[in-house]
Amino acid sequence: MQISYASLPPAEVTANAVVILTHKFEKVDDKRLKELDRATNGLVGELLDSTEFTGALGETVTLNRVNGYESDRVILAGLGDKKGSTADNYRQAAGFLSRYKPLIRCRSAGFHLGAITDDDIYQAVIEGYILGSYRLLKYKTDDDSHKSHLLSKVQFVVDNKRLLPRLEKAVARGTITAESQTNVRYLSALPGCDLTPKKFAVEAQKTADRYKTISCRVLERKEIKAEKMGALLAVAQGSSEPPRFVILKYQGGGKTQKPIVLVGKGVTFDSGGLSLKPADKMIEMNGDMTGAAVVMSTIEAAARLGIRQNLVGLMPLTENMPSGTAIRPSDIITTRKGLTVEIINTDAEGRLILADALDYANEFDPQAVIDIATLTGATLYILGYAGAPILGNHERLLERIRASSEATAEKVWPLPLWDEFHNNLKSNIADCVNSGGRPAGTATAAAFLEQFVGDWPWAHIDIAYVDIEKKGQAYIPKGTSGIGARLLIDLLSNWKKL
Ligand code: BES
Ligand code: MN
Ligand code: ZN
Repeated sequence: MQISYASLPPAEVTANAVVILTHKFEKVDDKRLKELDRATNGLVGELLDSTEFTGALGETVTLNRVNGYESDRVILAGLGDKKGSTADNYRQAAGFLSRYKPLIRCRSAGFHLGAITDDDIYQAVIEGYILGSYRLLKYKTDDDSHKSHLLSKVQFVVDNKRLLPRLEKAVARGTITAESQTNVRYLSALPGCDLTPKKFAVEAQKTADRYKTISCRVLERKEIKAEKMGALLAVAQGSSEPPRFVILKYQGGGKTQKPIVLVGKGVTFDSGGLSLKPADKMIEMNGDMTGAAVVMSTIEAAARLGIRQNLVGLMPLTENMPSGTAIRPSDIITTRKGLTVEIINTDAEGRLILADALDYANEFDPQAVIDIATLTGATLYILGYAGAPILGNHERLLERIRASSEATAEKVWPLPLWDEFHNNLKSNIADCVNSGGRPAGTATAAAFLEQFVGDWPWAHIDIAYVDIEKKGQAYIPKGTSGIGARLLIDLLSNWKKL
């Protein structure tokens, strides 16, 4: 998709289609709509009277061959109520448009943003468009499904030409952000057979090879043993696929600047192990590496955007399989930190591999650590499919994450991390158990992780269930959602010392 920028009135946009985004309106008073109404002898007013087009979110109408307009067609697209409208209304409208046939059959189109001066909105439009049109085609052999759904030329148009440099920057930023998210969607949709720990590590190495600012180190089983990562090894011992531990480093800040460490759960398939999942719960468990994919994609986005921070990404990668060599419920393992854990349930494997990764974060003297993981099914009974619970030990860090959540419309909400949750983790014979059972499952999992957190600000994002979009939304079609990258990119782009 080739993108260009211009300041022109809608009538002068030379493309197959010109798109006018508009909020709900009660009379034709927007400059762009007034011009169009005049050129069509009052058609816009008539559409409004007939309620065929009111500007509601997701509404669209196409006017062909409008007198005096250079483009073949004018497409009106609704943004919903002006009151309470945010950049996400634009993201959603663009998402709907990305699947609107009269638009996507065109070769070229101009998006007319009129008098809008808000960078967030410029960014949201391209994000919504790219995200809304993304589909996984790798496994479709039917030629028809491969026909491109992307316009080959898109022009972004505003009234005032002084806005063009900002428009261009914001659209470039939105493109990188959306591509980062679709990369997460891609990786988390891959079946376990095509994204093993080994293959994930190869992807990480390839990512590093594309940028001078990123370096990659991959620990194989021998090195993982040398690091004494007993918890990661324990989860991996049931699988014939060997584990990996990937360290991605991005150098965007000064040499002496402490890094922000991102930790992502990378279980490439979670069968539950000997505490086997029922069939209907196991089917989506190829996506149990979404956290690791978010970390990898965010680090790549940081390099593309030139974010001025030092980042370290830690990705423990393994399968969780049942076999004659698998860990048994009642086994006791020793973590990298030295704490012993009694395995109550082999399906509580995410917290085990994160425990070793969080402990390893100490090696980098971090200014903050954020982990992201499809960790607990209990999230379903907390925020459902609407958003992700966050927990941690540092109010300001959690507040920052909340602010980025507002800005990006990737919803998160804090849960408390009370001492009580640690009581559920007591073991008779080891230092702790790996599962506190059903009550407060999301918080006890976080309490388990907290035991491995060092003397630094830490936040945990549990993206179980929100990693998959069941119904399909404006710019998240049915399938993997890729949640997390947009939020973390925003957080790191606006990072200030805590
Ligand atoms: N990967 C799962 C959590 C999950 C469930 C993610 C559903 C996405 C959708 C995790 O490893 C798991 O199995 N957690 C158990 C923990 C329990 C045994 C303490 C759970 O939540 O049931
Ligand atoms: Mn599990
Ligand atoms: Zn899991």
